[in-house]
Amino acid sequence: MHPHASLLDELVQRAKAVREHAHAPYSRFTVGAAIATKSGRVFEGCNVENASYGGTICAERGAIMQMVAAGEREPIACAIVTGGEEGASPCGICRQVLSEFADDMPIVLVGLDAHDGETGRVVQLADLLPLAFKFRR
Ligand code: THU
Repeated sequence: MHPHASLLDELVQRAKAVREHAHAPYSRFTVGAAIATKSGRVFEGCNVENASYGGTICAERGAIMQMVAAGEREPIACAIVTGGEEGASPCGICRQVLSEFADDMPIVLVGLDAHDGETGRVVQLADLLPLAFKFRR
Protein backbone atom coordinates (compact mmCIF):
# COMPACT_ATOMS: atom_id res chain seq x y z
CA MET A 1 0.00 0.00 0.00
CA HIS A 2 1.48 3.33 -1.09
CA PRO A 3 -0.42 6.20 0.49
CA HIS A 4 -0.74 9.38 -1.52
CA ALA A 5 1.62 12.21 -0.61
CA SER A 6 -1.37 14.34 0.43
CA LEU A 7 -2.30 11.76 3.07
CA LEU A 8 1.22 11.96 4.49
CA ASP A 9 0.93 15.77 4.50
CA GLU A 10 -2.35 15.56 6.40
CA LEU A 11 -0.78 13.20 8.94
CA VAL A 12 2.09 15.65 9.48
CA GLN A 13 -0.38 18.49 10.10
CA ARG A 14 -2.36 16.37 12.55
CA ALA A 15 0.80 15.24 14.37
CA LYS A 16 2.03 18.84 14.56
CA ALA A 17 -1.26 19.97 16.08
CA VAL A 18 -1.55 17.20 18.68
CA ARG A 19 2.09 17.74 19.69
CA GLU A 20 0.85 20.98 21.28
CA HIS A 21 -0.98 18.81 23.82
CA ALA A 22 2.09 16.84 24.88
CA HIS A 23 2.75 16.67 28.61
CA ALA A 24 6.54 16.80 28.80
CA PRO A 25 7.55 18.90 31.83
CA TYR A 26 10.56 16.66 32.57
CA SER A 27 12.30 16.23 29.22
CA ARG A 28 10.72 19.26 27.51
CA PHE A 29 10.80 17.08 24.39
CA THR A 30 7.33 17.14 22.89
CA VAL A 31 6.20 14.59 20.32
CA GLY A 32 3.07 14.30 18.19
CA ALA A 33 2.03 11.25 16.19
CA ALA A 34 -0.79 10.59 13.74
CA ILE A 35 -1.77 7.27 12.22
CA ALA A 36 -4.03 6.74 9.20
CA THR A 37 -6.02 3.53 8.90
CA LYS A 38 -7.26 1.66 5.85
CA SER A 39 -10.82 2.88 6.50
CA GLY A 40 -9.73 6.51 6.09
CA ARG A 41 -9.68 7.57 9.73
CA VAL A 42 -6.80 9.28 11.53
CA PHE A 43 -5.77 8.74 15.16
CA GLU A 44 -3.49 11.01 17.15
CA GLY A 45 -1.25 10.74 20.16
CA CYS A 46 1.20 12.88 22.10
CA ASN A 47 3.75 11.94 24.72
CA VAL A 48 2.48 11.98 28.30
CA GLU A 49 5.26 12.03 30.88
CA ASN A 50 4.96 11.14 34.54
CA ALA A 51 6.71 12.23 37.73
CA SER A 52 7.60 8.55 38.06
CA TYR A 53 9.52 8.62 34.79
CA GLY A 54 8.85 5.01 33.84
CA GLY A 55 5.14 5.82 33.62
CA THR A 56 5.77 7.92 30.51
CA ILE A 57 3.91 6.94 27.34
CA CYS A 58 5.25 7.88 23.92
CA ALA A 59 3.15 9.69 21.29
CA GLU A 60 3.17 6.72 18.90
CA ARG A 61 1.77 4.32 21.49
CA GLY A 62 -0.86 6.89 22.47
CA ALA A 63 -2.04 7.01 18.84
CA ILE A 64 -2.13 3.20 18.60
CA MET A 65 -4.23 2.98 21.81
CA GLN A 66 -6.72 5.49 20.34
CA MET A 67 -6.88 3.47 17.12
CA VAL A 68 -7.57 0.16 18.85
CA ALA A 69 -10.09 1.68 21.26
CA ALA A 70 -11.99 2.99 18.23
CA GLY A 71 -12.21 -0.53 16.83
CA GLU A 72 -9.59 0.00 14.13
CA ARG A 73 -6.65 -2.31 13.49
CA GLU A 74 -5.20 -1.55 10.08
CA PRO A 75 -2.74 1.36 10.08
CA ILE A 76 -1.41 2.31 6.64
CA ALA A 77 0.82 5.31 7.38
CA CYS A 78 2.18 7.30 10.31
CA ALA A 79 3.72 10.73 10.94
CA ILE A 80 5.86 11.67 13.93
CA VAL A 81 6.70 15.32 14.67
CA THR A 82 9.32 16.50 17.15
CA GLY A 83 11.45 19.54 17.74
CA GLY A 84 14.97 19.69 16.40
CA GLU A 85 16.88 19.93 13.15
CA GLU A 86 15.87 16.46 12.07
CA GLY A 87 12.94 14.25 12.99
CA ALA A 88 13.30 11.64 15.71
CA SER A 89 12.92 7.97 14.97
CA PRO A 90 10.45 5.99 17.12
CA CYS A 91 11.85 4.18 20.16
CA GLY A 92 12.19 0.41 20.25
CA ILE A 93 9.04 -0.22 22.27
CA CYS A 94 6.97 1.89 19.86
CA ARG A 95 8.44 0.06 16.86
CA GLN A 96 7.29 -3.21 18.40
CA VAL A 97 3.83 -1.83 19.23
CA LEU A 98 3.40 -0.42 15.72
CA SER A 99 4.45 -3.78 14.26
CA GLU A 100 1.65 -5.52 16.17
CA PHE A 101 -0.79 -4.02 13.65
CA ALA A 102 1.30 -3.46 10.50
CA ASP A 103 4.08 -5.59 9.01
CA ASP A 104 5.17 -2.50 7.12
CA MET A 105 4.04 1.07 6.49
CA PRO A 106 5.63 4.41 5.65
CA ILE A 107 6.50 6.61 8.63
CA VAL A 108 7.23 10.30 8.07
CA LEU A 109 9.72 11.72 10.56
CA VAL A 110 9.46 15.49 10.84
CA GLY A 111 11.64 17.85 12.84
CA LEU A 112 10.59 21.42 13.55
CA ASP A 113 13.47 23.78 14.28
CA ALA A 114 13.32 26.95 16.38
CA HIS A 115 12.20 28.98 13.33
CA ASP A 116 9.44 26.49 12.50
CA GLY A 117 11.54 25.17 9.62
CA GLU A 118 10.44 21.66 8.74
CA THR A 119 12.67 18.78 7.74
CA GLY A 120 11.09 15.47 6.91
CA ARG A 121 11.93 12.08 5.59
CA VAL A 122 10.01 8.91 5.02
CA VAL A 123 11.21 5.60 6.43
CA GLN A 124 9.58 2.17 6.43
CA LEU A 125 8.51 0.35 9.59
CA ALA A 126 9.97 -2.92 8.23
CA ASP A 127 13.38 -1.21 7.95
CA LEU A 128 13.14 0.17 11.49
CA LEU A 129 12.23 -3.22 12.96
CA PRO A 130 13.44 -6.10 10.81
CA LEU A 131 12.56 -9.59 12.00
CA ALA A 132 9.91 -8.23 14.38
CA PHE A 133 8.80 -10.57 17.14
CA LYS A 134 5.39 -12.14 16.49
CA PHE A 135 3.66 -14.42 18.94
CA ARG A 136 3.03 -17.82 17.41
CA ARG A 137 2.04 -21.04 19.06
N1 THU B 1 9.15 9.93 23.07
C1 THU B 1 8.09 9.71 22.24
O1 THU B 1 6.98 10.23 22.47
N2 THU B 1 8.27 8.90 21.18
C2 THU B 1 9.43 8.25 20.87
O2 THU B 1 9.49 7.45 19.95
C3 THU B 1 10.64 8.54 21.64
C4 THU B 1 10.45 9.33 22.88
C5 THU B 1 8.97 10.81 24.22
C6 THU B 1 9.02 10.10 25.55
C7 THU B 1 9.46 11.20 26.48
O3 THU B 1 8.33 11.92 26.91
C8 THU B 1 10.30 12.11 25.60
O4 THU B 1 10.00 11.76 24.25
C9 THU B 1 11.78 11.98 25.84
O5 THU B 1 12.18 10.68 25.79
